[in-house]
Amino acid sequence: MKTMVIYQSKTGFTKRYAEWIAAALGCDALAWKDAQRMDLAACDTLIYGGWFHAGSIMGLKKFLAKAAPLGKKLAVFATGASPAENPEVESSLKKNFTPEQWGRIKTFYFPGGLNYENMGRMDRMLMAAFRAMVKKQEGENSEMYMMLCKSYDLTDRKYIEPLVAYCQEA
Ligand SMILES: Cc1cc2nc3c(=O)[nH]c(=O)nc-3n(C[C@H](O)[C@H](O)[C@H](O)COP(=O)(O)O)c2cc1C
Repeated sequence: MKTMVIYQSKTGFTKRYAEWIAAALGCDALAWKDAQRMDLAACDTLIYGGWFHAGSIMGLKKFLAKAAPLGKKLAVFATGASPAENPEVESSLKKNFTPEQWGRIKTFYFPGGLNYENMGRMDRMLMAAFRAMVKKQEGENSEMYMMLCKSYDLTDRKYIEPLVAYCQEA
């Protein structure tokens, strides 16, 4: 049973989850740019992890275009700034799939956080615009605005457990 974890990560949260999953399953975790050179058809299970960027899971479309036709067991996880308990997480995930894909591909959400230090310049600017919008709409004392004002880390190894269990099922 060959499994591979493939991920895209800019500031490190998704990479951390990918590496935790790979360690738990005893397989490799590869960045998408390196995974493209690998023979994905040689795997039985493919796991893809990407981060939410304005509602889209980074790299998911390209991954699915390549991996879905192979007929392998697939699992997807996304990381984002929201806590795991956010009730909007499920609908945000769902928007990234066709109804057929959503019914067939098991999908998970793992809370990441925000890491302003490792973000690119453009992403920092986009976050500044988003912060300004939240400040205007919800006020500078709102929980959401205050959360967006500095880096934070919500990652925890415990979140990978359901995905790992799913991938270990025959
Ligand atoms: C420009 C930008 C847009 C983002 N959009 C979302 C979003 O729509 N939903 C969300 O939950 N998180 C959003 N985030 C937060 C990232 O998804 C989060 O920081 C993620 O864990 C980063 O993963 P990485 O460290 O692997 O790059 C956004 C971050 C940036 C910089």
